[in-house]
Amino acid sequence: MFPYALILPLTLFSTTLFAEPIPHPSQSEQQRDQFVTSLLKKMTLDEKIGQLRLISVGPDTPKSVIKQMIEKGQVGAIFNTVTRSDIRVMQDQVMQLSRLKIPLFFAYDVVHGQRTIFPIPLGLAATWDTQAVTSVGRVSALEAAQDGLNMTWAPMVDVSHEPRWGRNSEGFGEDTYLTSIMGKTMVEAMQGKDPADRNSVMTSVKHFALYGAVEGGREYNSVDMSPQQMFQHYLPPYQTALQAGSGGVMVSLNSINGVPATANHWLLTDLLRHQWHFKGITVSDHGAIKELINHGVASDPADAVRIAIKAGIDMSMSDQYYSQYLPGLVKKGAVTSAEIDNAARHVLNVKYDMGLFRDAYSHLGPVGSDPKDTNAEDRLHRQEARQVAAQSIVLLKNWHHILPLQKQGTIAVIGPLADSQRDIMGSWSAAGVAQQSITLLQGMREAVGSSATLLYAKGSNITDNSKVQAFLNLYEPAVVVDQRSPQQLRDEAVAVAKKADVVVMAVGESQGMAHEASSRTDIRIPKAQRELIDAVKATGKPLVLVLMNGRALDITQQDGQADGILETWFSGTEGGHAISDILFGDQNPSGKLPVTFPRSVGQLPLYYNHLPTGRPYDFTHPNKYTSHYFDINNSPLYPFGYGLSYTDFTLSPVTLSSPTMTDHHTLAASVMVTNSGKRAGATVVQLYLHDPVASLSRPVKELKGFQKVWLQPGQSKTVTFTIDKNALSFWNQEMKWVVEPGQFEVMIGTDSVHTQIKSFTYQ
Ligand code: BGC
Repeated sequence: MFPYALILPLTLFSTTLFAEPIPHPSQSEQQRDQFVTSLLKKMTLDEKIGQLRLISVGPDTPKSVIKQMIEKGQVGAIFNTVTRSDIRVMQDQVMQLSRLKIPLFFAYDVVHGQRTIFPIPLGLAATWDTQAVTSVGRVSALEAAQDGLNMTWAPMVDVSHEPRWGRNSEGFGEDTYLTSIMGKTMVEAMQGKDPADRNSVMTSVKHFALYGAVEGGREYNSVDMSPQQMFQHYLPPYQTALQAGSGGVMVSLNSINGVPATANHWLLTDLLRHQWHFKGITVSDHGAIKELINHGVASDPADAVRIAIKAGIDMSMSDQYYSQYLPGLVKKGAVTSAEIDNAARHVLNVKYDMGLFRDAYSHLGPVGSDPKDTNAEDRLHRQEARQVAAQSIVLLKNWHHILPLQKQGTIAVIGPLADSQRDIMGSWSAAGVAQQSITLLQGMREAVGSSATLLYAKGSNITDNSKVQAFLNLYEPAVVVDQRSPQQLRDEAVAVAKKADVVVMAVGESQGMAHEASSRTDIRIPKAQRELIDAVKATGKPLVLVLMNGRALDITQQDGQADGILETWFSGTEGGHAISDILFGDQNPSGKLPVTFPRSVGQLPLYYNHLPTGRPYDFTHPNKYTSHYFDINNSPLYPFGYGLSYTDFTLSPVTLSSPTMTDHHTLAASVMVTNSGKRAGATVVQLYLHDPVASLSRPVKELKGFQKVWLQPGQSKTVTFTIDKNALSFWNQEMKWVVEPGQFEVMIGTDSVHTQIKSFTYQ
């Protein structure tokens, strides 16, 4: 597709992210290759094809069928089985019944925790704290490995400018740099020193590629994108996460400029293998191979299989197509045995790297060591979860310092999300148990003890729209619908609010509204809850909104109504404790938005690092013939990088180590940040760069560095960012990675709008 010799040397603030020289195969890599080569020689064609099959235990493939498949060497890996005892049975069958005893590996979607559920990834990104994310990765890997798993389908590093897309919740937001850093951190944390270690798992970065850019934010839709946009903004997070050593990559369901990713030889072979030198496995997403027929690039199942394997799909997830059609295709000569060997080699390589050939039970331990109670309380890591969740919360509004609340008087807690154990965990909550999660109401009750009175009313259902209720409850009773009438529910809430000194309302989306297959055209809080907020607001009581949701929402109306707003995402097992910690000031909020909050869905896509236009809108000199919507303010409601604290931070002007920068040299940009308020707290100092004149329009600003800084009241700290040539470089019209001499602007601030600016010249 792209004839260019692409190497991606994008070095961003003090961290070399890309294009390291190709390492010589290490001793162990050579040993691995020898081992795998000799194993392949012993395998029949059917056994090799068996290694390419990845299945989920379920109604279509019950345990008895899997046993037969294991016996015949027809399966390579299993996903969705999450207890050591279940996994052990299958690995025992491999060892006892199969000819070559090639261990299975076991995978699961451990996206933000296995048993202890941490905030959803969007919330993790809102911490802007790599130490916090490292602790999430380590704990998740440990709990997953303790459950016998070897691989996780995570992290998801799909950059997205589309809050309509439900999978925003699973990713790290709209920015390339932030997503790259978070993805890399997660891979390094989950894989640890070695994915074979007892407490580590191998990662599988997803969804390769560009899944976050599906047109209109509609799930499973197609992507059409310029090469510059692709390489500048969307591909770097995948490459960074793979360079961090991820053993796997999951291929996305979308097409890219007309070619489905699953059929995309350029993407999976030229780019991934030849240019990025990826050596692990590629896994198709659920059923993606047969979907090539629907995409209109394969005529029948056999054709789909031929195209997928030739493009570079090693393992086929959840279908029988590879097993059914590859033997015939090889016989006909339509697929070569070398192509089968190549894919099987990748699977065996990762099994080797998982340590499974040394010990097929490495993550299972000896018989008899399985936990008696898989859900035992002492298997959880509550303290870590509470700490990270508090860090993920973003204080959006704090009118007249309504927050933190005093633990006194009467507090009304209202809203359909205030006491929902299931919703607070968010989607992809792995093996998390809802009954173990702490709701906001529980957390607040514990926090106030007997020093304040708490009154509770549900106030409304998540939604009164019966079609949406049916959608959310399609496969399981996910949303409990209160049978009282909306008016009855609201009346009860209003009565409770009237008795209180202050009202805290937990509103937003249910878990299932921000998930796979959960695109929305209306990104407001659902109507039933909006009407509840209106009714409670009418009581005149001070109002704090606690938002729970998995995407940027349009909260324009509620922003005008609430005195305080906390964006808490879906904050996980310890969410209720963490939110209470923030509400009552036991913790100071330090989260920053990883996505732009629009004023209306009509503004989408709306993101901070957009290109300039020839007719920029200037609100100080409004002009009809400039780029804007005439019926709405052009700016976002809350910008990327934004978040308040209970203390204040001031930044000094930017100082540069030199007014000029030359090739092979770096430049240091510094600010002094001071906690000028009265409480200890943290803020995120953010570095943005802008190239005002280049051969291509460059974004108005791009994040190139950040540092989270903790300061006592009155304390100051100098924060320094090192800017190097790569931070100034971009893909030009010829798709060359260049830096063009001239002036650059350095912007440093505590969000993407309020920044201190200084210029320098690159020569
Ligand atoms: C999702 C993937 C997920 C896989 C396995 C698919 O439907 O798109 O993100 O990893 O299922 O659960």
